[in-house]
Amino acid sequence: MKIGFIGAGVVAQTISKHALAVGHRVLLSNTRGPDSLAPLVKELGSGAEAGTPQQATEQDIIVLAANWPKVQQALFSIPDWKGRILIDTTNRLAGFTPLTLGDISGRTSSEIVGDLAPGARVVKAFNSVPMAWISDFSPSKRRTVLFISGDDPEAKKPVHNLIDEIGFEPVDLGSLAIGGRLQQLGGPLAGLRLEFLERFSL
Ligand SMILES: NC(=O)c1ccc[n+]([C@@H]2O[C@H](COP(=O)([O-])OP(=O)(O)OC[C@H]3O[C@@H](n4cnc5c(N)ncnc54)[C@H](OP(=O)(O)O)[C@@H]3O)[C@@H](O)[C@H]2O)c1
Repeated sequence: MKIGFIGAGVVAQTISKHALAVGHRVLLSNTRGPDSLAPLVKELGSGAEAGTPQQATEQDIIVLAANWPKVQQALFSIPDWKGRILIDTTNRLAGFTPLTLGDISGRTSSEIVGDLAPGARVVKAFNSVPMAWISDFSPSKRRTVLFISGDDPEAKKPVHNLIDEIGFEPVDLGSLAIGGRLQQLGGPLAGLRLEFLERFSL
């Protein structure tokens, strides 16, 4: 797969390193243009490139990895997402110093992302843990649980598979309205560090 990132910060870099390690390619973007990302793609190595946010939205899977106040600006220029899978890593923060939770009383943050990205199949993932908890890039790391939520079961499959193949344990919580609320910042499953031991299944 080639994964396009809207954003090139901590989240985009962490997921990129994992994805590159298992043979995927990545294209990272920011507001300052591809040249500003030249040192980063050099550091990430083979399989990484810089592009524009528009180019990021043309890849097999797109990861939204911008801060909440920038989300609308990051998405509004794409009028039709044509069924593309958009992984929403964002958390609805109102402020950063100090960290302040935004208004989470209404529609979930990923439903709002879906409203801003018409035609996208939004899957919420990677938002519920600090990246520092999933920054072990060795194959022998312990399997941290990563939640996913989304309204389209087919769209969740490649996200589920990606999380699995990069060495984490995907747990599907259901729809954006229900699962998204559980895993979004302020929800009961956000900020929980769960390490997977085994699964009993009937
Ligand atoms: N850091 C974590 O541990 C963590 C964990 C889970 C979830 N999250 C969530 O993930 C999201 C990203 O967090 P982060 O820590 O990666 O933030 P970050 O390090 O501040 O990076 C944000 C990136 O978004 C880019 N950006 C801003 N507006 C953009 C636009 N219109 N188009 C394209 N790129 C744009 C920025 O580029 P410029 O420099 O050009 O502005 C920057 O590269 C946030 O919503 C955060 O709440 C973070």
